[in-house]
Amino acid sequence: MADTIEAIATRYSCRNFKSDPLPEASVQAIARAALQSPSARNRQPWHFSFVTDKTLIEEMDVVSMKTLAVTNPAAYDRTISRGGKLFYNAAGLVVISAQHIDGLVGSGLDVGIATATIVLAAKGLGIDSCVCALASAAGNGHETQPPYNRLGIPEGYEYVIAVLLGFAAGESVAPHTIEEGKLTFIR
Ligand SMILES: Cc1cc2nc3c(=O)[nH]c(=O)nc-3n(C[C@H](O)[C@H](O)[C@H](O)COP(=O)(O)O)c2cc1C
Repeated sequence: MADTIEAIATRYSCRNFKSDPLPEASVQAIARAALQSPSARNRQPWHFSFVTDKTLIEEMDVVSMKTLAVTNPAAYDRTISRGGKLFYNAAGLVVISAQHIDGLVGSGLDVGIATATIVLAAKGLGIDSCVCALASAAGNGHETQPPYNRLGIPEGYEYVIAVLLGFAAGESVAPHTIEEGKLTFIR
């Protein structure tokens, strides 16, 4: 198990997963961590759909790629150049859906924080991840249509983002280069 700072320092976006399944205990621990995320006024505007059904992940990949080809050809081409799989053969994914909360700035921020909690909890358990916004373009607005209607997204909630989870195939990738110039310390 990595400590928090090590998990943050070694996390990177994995785009090539091997087929090993996620341990159920790890899925449960990540799910609990997601629920423990902070949110504005503790509104907890989210719902987390943890998918480890490989058939459903594959169906979502195919449908999302078809949508992407039409809505975002550049991203479609980029995904094709990376192997053609929007979900990079991930063993699991978490779809985060959320309620619209009128007048409250931050439901998007809340989901972003929960996303970070998920990727760091996963890394702490030795599980690699990739935040995947491209899939949202396909899922958002289609929550009641197949295959998204199998995600258990509650009525009134919208598909926001997916987090892919699994074990990296091959060598791990170096984390992105940090930019020290983006820090200011006032002492
Ligand atoms: C909100 C968000 C959406 C992202 N969407 C995608 C995506 O759809 N596909 C993908 O391969 N990576 C996606 N990424 C990963 C970023 O490309 C990646 O975090 C960035 O290049 C920095 O690299 P690193 O995560 O390896 O440090 C996303 C990241 C964030 C935070």
